[in-house]
Amino acid sequence: MQVDLLKNKVGFDDAFNYKDEIDLSSTLQRYFPEGIDIYFDNVGAEMLEAAIQNMNNFGRVAICGLISEYTDSQNSAKLDMIRVLYKRIRIEGFLTVDFSEIYQDFISTTTQYLQTSKIKVIEDISYGVESIPEAFLDLFQGNNIGKKVVRIAEDDV
Ligand SMILES: NC(=O)c1ccc[n+]([C@@H]2O[C@H](COP(=O)([O-])OP(=O)(O)OC[C@H]3O[C@@H](n4cnc5c(N)ncnc54)[C@H](OP(=O)(O)O)[C@@H]3O)[C@@H](O)[C@H]2O)c1
Repeated sequence: MQVDLLKNKVGFDDAFNYKDEIDLSSTLQRYFPEGIDIYFDNVGAEMLEAAIQNMNNFGRVAICGLISEYTDSQNSAKLDMIRVLYKRIRIEGFLTVDFSEIYQDFISTTTQYLQTSKIKVIEDISYGVESIPEAFLDLFQGNNIGKKVVRIAEDDV
């Protein structure tokens, strides 16, 4: 279902369900036969390892999030540093706080993209303050489809 959403609603060229794949490195090789130049990581662990295995020379990796590692400290990525060396791969952490001075520009640009459907949003909304604990746990169990939002009260009109 999420694959269908990504391809047919959000507008990605292609997508796969990582839960159906046995060997993520082979999967990425299948989807990116010419290799990967830029990888924006939100996952960490095996997905990051697989991406590094498929990077091209001078590939760049932005580490934004490591969601598969947060709840399992044993599950950290074991990177192939020999490959990082010979492929001259650059890996850099990315934190939104480092870009606070362009926040207003980000808001006006993305607002325009949302209004013109250049960016499409899927939200998974829970209602009421009492739904917060379950909504939070859903993030780590793959239960949400789209951005998890808790609506505390109806908007004032
Ligand atoms: N650097 C920063 O400044 C910054 C700021 C905010 C957030 N973040 C990070 O950004 C990431 C995304 O946040 P979000 O709010 O968009 O989270 P989200 O809506 O909960 O999405 C997380 C996604 O990760 C997928 N996922 C979980 N485990 C995975 C695994 N082992 N392999 C592949 N995919 C996996 C989930 O898929 P399923 O639901 O199918 O499992 C889900 O699509 C998080 O890592 C968060 O910590 C970073």
